[in-house]
Amino acid sequence: MPGVQQVEHPVRQHHAATFLEPARTPRHRRAEREEFWVVECHALASLDPRLPVVNPASFPRRVMNLRPALFLLALTALASAAFASREKPVIGLSLDTLKEERWQRDRDTFIAEAQRLGATVIVQSANSDDTRQVRDVESLISRKVDVLVIVPHNGSAMTRAVKSANDAKIPVIAYDRLILNAQIDYYLTFDNVKVGEAQAGYIVPRLPKDRPARIVRIYGAPTDNNAKLFKQGQDNILGPLIKAGKIQVVHEDWALDWKPENAKKIMNAAVTKAGRNLDAVIVSNDGTAGGAIQALQEDGLAGKVLVTGQDADLAACQRILRGTQAMTVYKPLTKLSHLAARIAVEVAKGGKPAATSTLHNGAKDVPSIFEAVIPVDKDNLLSTVVADGFHKAADLK
Ligand code: BGC
Repeated sequence: MPGVQQVEHPVRQHHAATFLEPARTPRHRRAEREEFWVVECHALASLDPRLPVVNPASFPRRVMNLRPALFLLALTALASAAFASREKPVIGLSLDTLKEERWQRDRDTFIAEAQRLGATVIVQSANSDDTRQVRDVESLISRKVDVLVIVPHNGSAMTRAVKSANDAKIPVIAYDRLILNAQIDYYLTFDNVKVGEAQAGYIVPRLPKDRPARIVRIYGAPTDNNAKLFKQGQDNILGPLIKAGKIQVVHEDWALDWKPENAKKIMNAAVTKAGRNLDAVIVSNDGTAGGAIQALQEDGLAGKVLVTGQDADLAACQRILRGTQAMTVYKPLTKLSHLAARIAVEVAKGGKPAATSTLHNGAKDVPSIFEAVIPVDKDNLLSTVVADGFHKAADLK
């Protein structure tokens, strides 16, 4: 990528080495290497925070005589710098993680659209560490970015970083995950409750009807507001059936930081506690589904128990074709990332783009946009994920 500069030490992705790695395309390998890169194609826009401090007493007399002219020149330069900043905004993009394949795609497509619109993006990724993400955002604020786009690791921990952005008058857009109790300007995401409904809604008609079905539930990171919304969507469908005794939840737990290895441990614990007689495992995303399926594989249960997911990760689509995962939820990421880039650029230029909805985050009704999601199984994988260009048919084998 032209004009790309590394600013931090690369941090390895924390998939446990023991996990089955999906087939990696060259694009994925490149994306992994570029974990902590900054895109710097702006010139004037980034000059102001870095102007050197000069002592005028050290100026030669001839220069001092030119003071009024220099003053005028400085004014013109400042005016053009301000203009440059408006026309070529600098966007700070703070990501929780690049662990899941999706965030690499979100980042790359966001940058491409922002650059097309004349903006520059400075990217930071916090490796699922709240302290580090708050520091990342504060460093973006001190670099005087024009707008911040944040995927919070923890929707509550990010509140104080947003306060610093508010003080610096930098608008904030929450991307994919909500930031709670904070004065943010926009929330752009998918319909997360619908994701949960799609997962449970897929499983229910496929469960045995002649006896209570036995299911395991593996939720996402408890620090991620979305994980609660996915569960809420699942509850909407499962709740009445659990109450009616038609579904029995034999084990449930939250996978800390969405780590596949944590999901694997939960699945191991479920089999130990409830035995092998299981009908389905409702897992909230593809990364953790991979961990659960590895545990099922060790018990000879993979392919015999329905497993859900989300994100249409390449490895998950491969598992769907192989029959070890039943479904995923496809979220057209490019649609969201391009929308976010357009809104970020408009907001940076002082605009107030229209939102289609609002969501209360504890502090205000946040102007929000919810993109639609698509449940995917082996029957519509080609007509959705592949037809959309999200994955190539050849890569799915
Ligand atoms: C996102 C999912 C993702 C998960 C783990 C959630 O907030 O909405 O798409 O799989 O985080 O990163």
